[in-house]
Amino acid sequence: PVRKAVFPVAGLGTRLLPATKAMPKEMLTLVDRPLIQHVVEEAKQAGIEEFIFVTSSGKTLIEDHFDRDHQLLATLEARGKKELVQLALDTEIPLGKLLVTRQHTPLGLGHAVWCARDIVGNEPFAVILPDEIVLHSIGCLSQLMNVYQEQGGNVVALMDVPRAMIKNYGAIAGESVGGNTLSITQMVEKPDPAEAPSTMSITGRYILQPQIFDHLAKNKKGAGGEIQLTDAMQELLEEQKFSGVLFDGKRYDCGHKLGFIEANIAFALDRNDMRGDVIGLLETYLKQAKP
Ligand code: G1P
Repeated sequence: PVRKAVFPVAGLGTRLLPATKAMPKEMLTLVDRPLIQHVVEEAKQAGIEEFIFVTSSGKTLIEDHFDRDHQLLATLEARGKKELVQLALDTEIPLGKLLVTRQHTPLGLGHAVWCARDIVGNEPFAVILPDEIVLHSIGCLSQLMNVYQEQGGNVVALMDVPRAMIKNYGAIAGESVGGNTLSITQMVEKPDPAEAPSTMSITGRYILQPQIFDHLAKNKKGAGGEIQLTDAMQELLEEQKFSGVLFDGKRYDCGHKLGFIEANIAFALDRNDMRGDVIGLLETYLKQAKP
């Protein structure tokens, strides 16, 4: 079983400045909860029991969000706000199951994951990038878990993108093994669109075997001068199987302004308790808007 998930949350979030000057980008709100809560809920749905945050200075709000706030609970209870008490309790990660390690220098995603090596230990684990939020009733990580139960090895989430966009992602080559699953034969980080092996991009959900740490430990720099997770996965591919899952659902990139606005609209429209009001608002603004 995959019990542990690593959340790399050390990044500066410069594309969302000034919002992220003092506030971790993972704490920005998507409808009514921070981005990080959306992905922790996705991990819980997939059966994850231990939550490992790779943080950096200025990110302690993330830990606080999943901790118990006694004063808040006492106030809400005194006011008889039972539903709000439950909402606050639902954010909690059980005692001893929230673990934090630091990445003191931003050397890349591969390096961030490597910082969690001792907490993960010798077992398979998930990696979830909180910038990317997938809207679907079956969480993206649950979909990867289903493939993992059948195939074992390593599993990554995939999404087709326009060729010009592939330079922003890890790209793969692979062969279909039926359904929405591929057997991966090559992975390359941020390829030139003309040379990309396909237009299938790696989305920020992974299930990895612990041997990935042997490759990450080499600290090799790749695209952008960073230690890339994709490069370590490409090395591990010579020893172990990698499956790719063209997941059901739509991915929203909340790491930049327009993506964040789009995600807020989409997630609000997906809420039964908000859809009608939000449609009304959108209609009003569309009527007033000048192109
Ligand atoms: C990272 C990974 C890349 C992946 C992407 C998904 O890139 O290195 O392989 O496709 O996340 O968002 P980053 O967005 O950190 O540049």
